[in-house]
Amino acid sequence: MKMNEVEFLASFPKESACPKDDKPEFAFIGRSNVGKSSLINMLTNRKGLAKVSVTPGKTQLINYFTINQAWYLVDLPGYGYAKVSKDKKAGFSKLISTYLAKRQQLVVAFVLIDCRHELQKVDKEFLDWCGENQVPFALVFTKADKLGKTQLQSQINSLLKTLLKSWEQLPPYFITSSESKLGREEVLKYIEEILAELSV
Ligand code: GTP
Ligand code: MG
Repeated sequence: MKMNEVEFLASFPKESACPKDDKPEFAFIGRSNVGKSSLINMLTNRKGLAKVSVTPGKTQLINYFTINQAWYLVDLPGYGYAKVSKDKKAGFSKLISTYLAKRQQLVVAFVLIDCRHELQKVDKEFLDWCGENQVPFALVFTKADKLGKTQLQSQINSLLKTLLKSWEQLPPYFITSSESKLGREEVLKYIEEILAELSV
């Protein structure tokens, strides 16, 4: 897919303030610091588009990016960061749960998981919550460049094995690196296919 036009639309404090039009949207979510903003920059080929932070919990609003005037990429706040999750619900905020449960325009939520670590409790709770609330999701394993080839494969296998303990079927998943652009084509092709089905 070509990223001809990429534009930051605006940031919104809650779901009810989000755009009212019916452009389909793809959201990116995961623990603070997992690499959501970096992934959005990598996918769009725009370095400074989404703010990348060294301090976890930087993104506290719902950020919208308009792609080719036809659909939205949505950068959601990270979950599981103690300092910013006072009103937490299984470690993630009301802002996130309301957005995911209510947003009609949401096509797929990409849930990011750092490939270097085992599945964290908060990730498992979050995925279970998505299942219970019928939120369609795909998984994106991030920071693949930080592991060697063999280590990466065994780490992914172990994560998938853990997931199969609670899920009968694996969701679509992608192995990515915002540094090396690994997985870029695969994620974009997946989005493109869904958009084609929706005739966008
Ligand atoms: P919050 O908005 O705070 O929740 O974080 P985020 O999930 O948007 O993470 P962000 O993209 O800001 O990245 C966090 C840190 O991880 C930054 O220092 C990035 O440079 C680094 N990082 C993100 N993706 C990758 C990757 O694929 N490879 C490597 N090596 N570093 C990455
Ligand atoms: Mg961010």
